[in-house]
Amino acid sequence: MVNRVLVWAAANPKLQQQVTENPIARRAAHRFVAGEQLQEALEAAAELNSHGIGSILDLLGEGVEDLSGVGHAVAEYEEATQAIAARGLNSTISIKLSQLGQTVDRGACVANLNRILDRAQALGVLVEVDMEDSSLVPDTLDLFREAATAHPQTRLAIQAMLRRTPLDLETLAPLKPRVRLVKGAYAEPIQVAHQGKAEIRAQFKYLTDWLFRHGSDPAFGTHDDELIAYARRSAAAAGRGPQEFEFQFLYGIRRDLQQRLVDQGHRVRVYIPFGSAWYPYLTRRMAERPANLAFFLRALAGR
Ligand code: FDA
Repeated sequence: MVNRVLVWAAANPKLQQQVTENPIARRAAHRFVAGEQLQEALEAAAELNSHGIGSILDLLGEGVEDLSGVGHAVAEYEEATQAIAARGLNSTISIKLSQLGQTVDRGACVANLNRILDRAQALGVLVEVDMEDSSLVPDTLDLFREAATAHPQTRLAIQAMLRRTPLDLETLAPLKPRVRLVKGAYAEPIQVAHQGKAEIRAQFKYLTDWLFRHGSDPAFGTHDDELIAYARRSAAAAGRGPQEFEFQFLYGIRRDLQQRLVDQGHRVRVYIPFGSAWYPYLTRRMAERPANLAFFLRALAGR
């Protein structure tokens, strides 16, 4: 029920406008979003770096429907990449292909992606690609295949909840892909995605083992204790040390665990969203956890 309301809320432009213009809502969003400006994301990254934690800068915005919005996103990513290099931060960037024009003009999207990858490579900054809803998965895999041939360090998010994912990974095996394994954040129909917690966890574990055998430098984007423990066991079984894979977290979630893993010798990176288009991102975080919704509503009510 809560989920259905949030899916409705995510797609409601009037509500979006009311929430994003509300100063209290903007302050509450700060728990999960570094700020609206790149500068704030860079400060958050520097702070995490000082604790031995890497970062991933993510410019919020998805489903961009016109090429002027696309141009803005490309310019922001270039600026972020330059700033990361200039400040010597331990940070990657993560992009959504729909932000680069995937659904508006595929040719422009390819050119934008290559431009960002070339610039980032020249500056020594790594690039990650987020995975969006299932309608974009086949094309995202194709674009990743092309990108990873010229830029093998590119990392792709892969969603464990999707039924198709094990086969998709088999087709990527020749590339020894760099993958960020996540559960999947989008509401998908039962024909397309596993719905139950246990099924999703089981597929996540299967894919974890797969990545240690066939992938490169696997990353696990989860806050789930059971899956984190499983990845550690799977790494040990594959003879990999704690620096040979990575745990990734979302900004504002389980800071204690992030630090504990670093203190135990693991590599940890935190995904830092920034920008003004924070509403869809925030509704996804609330859908994942009713406690986040309660936090947000309490902040709005001034309690
Ligand atoms: P689950 O949601 O079951 O949470 C397990 C435990 O973690 C909870 O019991 C709670 O303790 C804690 N927790 C989890 N979420 C929390 C929250 N929002 N607030 C507070 N505590 C929370 N998805 C996608 O479709 N495409 C993508 O590209 C990415 N990229 C991505 C990058 C990174 C670095 C991460 C960590 C996640 C993503 N995701 C994503 C999101 C992912 O698919 C998934 O929706 C969330 O990580 C939540 O799932 P968990 O595995 O954390 O488990």
